[in-house]
Amino acid sequence: MHTSEDPVGCSGLSRRTFFRYAAGASALASMPMLTEPRLALAARPHFADPNIGIHIDANENPLGPSAAARQAMVDIVPRGGRYLFTMEEELAEIFAKQEGLNPESVVPFAGSTEPLHYTVLAFTGKDRPLVIADPGYEAPMWAAQIAGAPVIKVPLADPKGEASHDIKAMLAASPTPGVIYICNPNNPTGTCTPRAAIEQAVASAPKDTVILIDEAYVHLCDAPRSLDFVKEGKNVIVLRTFSKLYGMAGIRMGFAVGRPDLLAKITPFSGQNSLPITAVVAAKASLLDADLVPTRKKAIGDIRMQTLAWLKSEGYATTPSESNCFMLDVRRPGKEVQAALAAKEMFVGRIWPAWPNSLRITVGTADEMAAFRKSFTEVMSSSTAGLKPAPLPRRLADHPFTHLS
Ligand SMILES: Cc1ncc(COP(=O)(O)O)c(C=O)c1O
Repeated sequence: MHTSEDPVGCSGLSRRTFFRYAAGASALASMPMLTEPRLALAARPHFADPNIGIHIDANENPLGPSAAARQAMVDIVPRGGRYLFTMEEELAEIFAKQEGLNPESVVPFAGSTEPLHYTVLAFTGKDRPLVIADPGYEAPMWAAQIAGAPVIKVPLADPKGEASHDIKAMLAASPTPGVIYICNPNNPTGTCTPRAAIEQAVASAPKDTVILIDEAYVHLCDAPRSLDFVKEGKNVIVLRTFSKLYGMAGIRMGFAVGRPDLLAKITPFSGQNSLPITAVVAAKASLLDADLVPTRKKAIGDIRMQTLAWLKSEGYATTPSESNCFMLDVRRPGKEVQAALAAKEMFVGRIWPAWPNSLRITVGTADEMAAFRKSFTEVMSSSTAGLKPAPLPRRLADHPFTHLS
C-alpha cells in the first residue's frame, strides 16, 4: 500500500509540469478538473491532431451518439434559444423509473467528472483520506489534493490475474476514510470487482464514509450494478455517464445517484447551471432505445475479445477486461513502445507508474484494431530502446491543456 498526498506521484505527470500548470495566485483553486481526455492528452508522446492517425488512447467510443440521439439533437436545435429546465427533470425521472429509483436520488450533470470531483471535495479532508485502487482512474486524486486530503493508494489484488479492487486492504487502509472510490469496471484495467467484495465495502466501512462507485463503463460488462445500494439508503453515490457506451463524451451528460441528503452535499458545488438541451435530448433518446446497450455491448465486446485473443496468441499478457480498455504488458518500458507507436500515428493510452511496462489500450473499431495489430507487430519486432516522447512544440507547451505532458 502506498500513501501519498501527491497526485502527481500517481499520475505519471512530472512534478515540474504539475506545478507549472498549477502556478499562479490561485494555483490549485484555479486548476481545472482532471478528466480522461486531459490525462490522455498529457500522456501523448507528442501533440496529436485528433484528425490524424488512430486514437485508442482516451477510452472514447468511436461509434459516437446513436442514430436516435443524433436526430433528437438536430430536432431540438431550433428551440436552442430557451432554457427548457424541465427537460432535465424529465430525464432524471425517465432514468429513475427505468432503474426503480426515487427521482430525488438522481441528479443530471454534464458528464460524471463533475459529480466525481464534487463528491471527493465534499467528503474528504485533512483527516478524511481518499482510498483508491492502484492502478486506478486518477481524477479523484486531484480532487483530494484540492481538498487537502491524503490519498491512500491500494494495489489491485491478484495483479497478474483478476486484477480487482483489494477491498479488504482498502477497508484496512484508514480508520477514517472520507471516500472509498471503487471504479467498476476499473479504468485502466477494464476488470470488475466481485459483487460480494463491494457489498463488504458498503457493509463494513465506517458509518460516515461515502463509497463512491464509478460505473462509467458498467454498460459494457455483465457485472451486477450497484444502484440497489442507493435504494437501500446506504452511504453510496453511484456515477453513471453517457460518455462511454452511449458515445456522447463530447456531448456531455451523466448522473450522480445517491441518497438525497448525500446529493445535497455535492450539488451546491455545481450551482444552478442548466445543462445543454442538445445533451439532455440525446441522453433521453439513448435511454429510450432499448436495443442500444445490448447491441453496442456486443459489438465492442466482440472486438475486445478478438484483440485479447490475438495478443494472447502472440504471447502477450493482458488484464481480463470486460470493458472498452485493457492493460497490455509489453515487457519493456511502456513509454518506448508508446513513442514508437506514435511515430506510426497509432496513439495508445497511458502508463501508470505502478505498472511501467504496461500500456492502456482502448478498444476501437475493427479497422482501428487491425491497424493496431499491424503497427504493434512492427514495433515489437524492432528495437525501441531509448525512444522518448517528442517534445511539445513551444506554442502547445504554453497552452494550459498541454502543460500536463
Ligand atoms: C472511470 C471514469 N470515470 C469518469 C470519467 C469521466 O467521464 P465523463 O465526465 O465524460 O463522464 C471517466 C472518463 O474517461 C472515467 O474513465
